[in-house]
Amino acid sequence: MEVIVQTDADRAAYLTALLIADKIRNKPDLVLGLATGRTMEQVYAHLARFHKRDGLDFSLCRTFNLDEYVGVPPESAASYRYYMNQHLFSRVNIDPRNTNLPDGMATNLKAACQQYESRIRACGGIDLQLLGIGTAGHIGFNEPLSAMQSRTRDKSLTRATLEQNAPMFGGNPDLVPRRALTMGVGTILEARHLILVATGAQKSEIIAKAVEGPITAMVSASAIQFHADCKVIVDEIAAAGLQGRDYYRWIYENEPDWDPYRALMSAYKPTA
Ligand code: F6R
Repeated sequence: MEVIVQTDADRAAYLTALLIADKIRNKPDLVLGLATGRTMEQVYAHLARFHKRDGLDFSLCRTFNLDEYVGVPPESAASYRYYMNQHLFSRVNIDPRNTNLPDGMATNLKAACQQYESRIRACGGIDLQLLGIGTAGHIGFNEPLSAMQSRTRDKSLTRATLEQNAPMFGGNPDLVPRRALTMGVGTILEARHLILVATGAQKSEIIAKAVEGPITAMVSASAIQFHADCKVIVDEIAAAGLQGRDYYRWIYENEPDWDPYRALMSAYKPTA
């Protein structure tokens, strides 16, 4: 695992978008695993800018989102399909037929989850999976005690998640759907590369547990420690609880692989 600390949330999002853009340029038919949430909004805004400004081409990309609420139709502003259309799909040249989210409206949820896994396999597996982290340590909607080998399935959401996601439901946690379909921890670990992004004070405690704490099903995100190619990109505030942050900074400053990115990051000027 590599932990990259950036000064602020926008720079963390920009670096993440640069890494994704390079993967797409190297493999135009990339199978990209996507996440929703506030952290990703800035990442998608940068990707949309790369498309508009530099012609970053999504036309052959296939995408699989981590999760979707059960019982929220795709046209509802609270659905993750709606979020993805709004923040990314409508802003780049992706073919909508190549975009996939678990079907939370299916009458047979179990069969829908199995089909989702089959579709991922039929595409040759996920090349790069983007992850956020919940305050209780979830990746996707893998709430505490999710099995490390779990596959796409439906999960009941914890109180912490209902509270975290309440802003999309008028601020009322009781209006957040109680269940969601999510890729499993096992599904996520099969992706060839992982990038987990976390920003803000709210994430500092859980990021320290996930990255430096024991691997435990109580913190699903700690499963990333098993993965052979995982980057964790955080801002200074989210990095505050990391014991090894000076070492992580040193690696970023000195590893030749990061040279091109350091150059791009120094030239970066945030738009208004
Ligand atoms: C959503 C997802 C979740 C979020 C996490 C962080 O698709 O996968 O794991 O990434 O809850 O959400 P934000 O970014 O809103 O703090």
